[in-house]
Amino acid sequence: MTMKAHANIIGIGLLGLGTVGSGVVRLLGDVQERLLAKTGWRAEIKRILVRDPQKERRVQVSPALLTTSAQEVLEDPEVHVVVEVIGGVCEAREYVLRALQSGRHVITANKDLIAEYGEELQEVARRHGTLLFYEAAVAGAIPIIRTLKQSFSLVSLQEVLGIVNGTTNFILTKMAAERVSFAEALQEAQRLGYAEADPHADVSGLDAARKMSILASLAFDRVFTPADVRVEGITHLTQEDLERAAAEDQVIKLVGRAVRNGDRVEISVAPTPLPRSHPLAQVSGCYNAVYVYGDAFGETMYYGPGAGSLPTASAVIGDLFTLLVRQEAGEALDVVAG
Ligand SMILES: NC(=O)c1ccc[n+]([C@@H]2O[C@H](COP(=O)([O-])OP(=O)(O)OC[C@H]3O[C@@H](n4cnc5c(N)ncnc54)[C@H](OP(=O)(O)O)[C@@H]3O)[C@@H](O)[C@H]2O)c1
Repeated sequence: MTMKAHANIIGIGLLGLGTVGSGVVRLLGDVQERLLAKTGWRAEIKRILVRDPQKERRVQVSPALLTTSAQEVLEDPEVHVVVEVIGGVCEAREYVLRALQSGRHVITANKDLIAEYGEELQEVARRHGTLLFYEAAVAGAIPIIRTLKQSFSLVSLQEVLGIVNGTTNFILTKMAAERVSFAEALQEAQRLGYAEADPHADVSGLDAARKMSILASLAFDRVFTPADVRVEGITHLTQEDLERAAAEDQVIKLVGRAVRNGDRVEISVAPTPLPRSHPLAQVSGCYNAVYVYGDAFGETMYYGPGAGSLPTASAVIGDLFTLLVRQEAGEALDVVAG
């Protein structure tokens, strides 16, 4: 049975209160009045799933909201929208499926999940009349998912190029600017919190491949997974490689590329020498950028912070706004409340 959410309050079940989750809590507090003015809805966090309720948090939340039971969040009748920011694939997939199947809309920042199971999750959402949003899954604050999905949905696209992994871009920028080795640049990235203790997914190119498979699926209206991406990481790059490129006025970047070639779409991630004058060559440090080429408009480029607590949370909050606007417009009208 479906029923309208109580009054004009939309209840949020937050899965995860780490880097992104705490950004969501903070930003939601900041935008509450604007959200009400623009949509007529208030968003309230009703439950928060964590692993360790005793842990010190970056944001203050009522301890009563915290739970270690996913069921308590996913079955709370006051939770209408589930925001998944726990990361990983196994549990995240199970929780997102359960949320969608129970009539709850889902917003996720989880590129690993969307890259591997996005199609399955969309299908489940369609069957249950629910909505799945994942703007934060690629390129942090840059609204590239919405751009591909909506603004460019009808026009023919030729190519998508992206620097979509901030960690590797930081490492390559540092190697080029300070003439340090890959290992030294990685160590510095880890010291500053830009690289994980286990940096494999980033430096092997896998993280970028996941994001490129998501972008390619949207750009070319087909289903791609990371297995469709030819991947080469940056671990083998040496100072000599970068200097050789510099001597030819080039900069080496880890570039994701999805290009239409007749009926085929080729997707790759690889260290690529770019002319210094190319706009992507100017993207330095942890920043991300995505280039989109289309028949109708030529080239466009989107640039911004690809990660971080508030930048990523702003993409999540943007999804929440879109969801509420669509709801107001009469789509996905009723949300399950029990
Ligand atoms: N960090 C970024 O800048 C960024 C950018 C774009 C996308 N993302 C994506 O956003 C998601 C979250 O990333 P994050 O950096 O916020 O991760 P994080 O800092 O490690 O936070 C994860 C949170 O989820 C909780 N959690 C994890 N597994 C759980 C489980 N099985 N049961 C209950 N709680 C669990 C943790 O609880 P405890 O706190 O109790 O340990 C923690 O609060 C990931 O999918 C990531 O790829 C992150």
